[in-house]
Amino acid sequence: MRDFPKVELHLHLEGAAPPAFIRGLAREKNMDISGVFDEHGNYAFKDFWHFLKVYEAATSTLQTAEDYHRLTLAVLEESAAHGVIYTESFLSPDFCGGRDVGAWREYLHAIRDAADQAEKSHGIIMRGVVTCIRHFGPEKAKETALCAAETAGDWLTGFGIAGDETAGKPKDFAYSFDMAREAGLRLTAHAGEWGGPQSVRDALNDLGVERIGHGVRVAEDPALVEELAEKEVVLEVCPGSNVALGVYPNWRAHPIGMLFDKGVKVTVSTDDPPFFHTTMTDEYDRLSDTFDWDDGVFKTLNTIAANAAFCDEKTRANVL
Ligand code: ADE
Ligand code: ZN
Repeated sequence: MRDFPKVELHLHLEGAAPPAFIRGLAREKNMDISGVFDEHGNYAFKDFWHFLKVYEAATSTLQTAEDYHRLTLAVLEESAAHGVIYTESFLSPDFCGGRDVGAWREYLHAIRDAADQAEKSHGIIMRGVVTCIRHFGPEKAKETALCAAETAGDWLTGFGIAGDETAGKPKDFAYSFDMAREAGLRLTAHAGEWGGPQSVRDALNDLGVERIGHGVRVAEDPALVEELAEKEVVLEVCPGSNVALGVYPNWRAHPIGMLFDKGVKVTVSTDDPPFFHTTMTDEYDRLSDTFDWDDGVFKTLNTIAANAAFCDEKTRANVL
């Protein structure tokens, strides 16, 4: 499936940093982040909450606009090598620029410059989605939303929320989502990964998002599955991430096949590929093996993703 053209809607830029890249930055900056890796040099974590800590420690090495420029080039080169033609990437000012609008502008400029370079050399199109971090709380999210609103445009096109879904409630973040919406940004929220169906209902009702990051736990509520299919809510499903973090014990147990069969608009993404030992090619191969999906199904999923992408119509036409 490597060469199959793919549209990815859910990739955390910092979470896509290869371990060797992060080790290199730590060495350059004399930082001790040894707890981040196992004896083979891979990212090591026990569960989702430990993953969040390791993620924070690893990304603490990203400290300059130049670091983000290099990271963006490396990530987009790898995505393009796996057939990705369009990628929507979550960017967290909490990690880059510390929510200071001035510093954030500098980081964003570097990321966008690298994205333009990658589009020229590898043909991959990237758009940015500013993402606040739920467990950092609503006040910090407001500063993040301000960063997003101040830089909204044709490239920075969305706003979202990631982090620990068990912390707080979506409505605590409604102010930030309102600010982003008023700035013209399209909206998505991580929900239905560590929270059940109600968490997805709350994200839809209280934040007014049009897409849900993960959303797979709606499978526990047949009425909600039907409602999502009817309302054409798009799910950014990351099966390899869900299996690696233990949301489901194995690929067979993953509900993406059932959700697709019920008419829910599912798409496929990697989330944080090096953390979960996955790539877009791996995701497609595993889905094909597990659910017997053929190229026709993958074409359908990519059309859904392209139509749900937070980009302008001209860009969409290039991707479809
Ligand atoms: N940030 C990076 N990966 C995440 C995930 N799978 N869930 C929530 N927040 C995240
Ligand atoms: Zn995610």
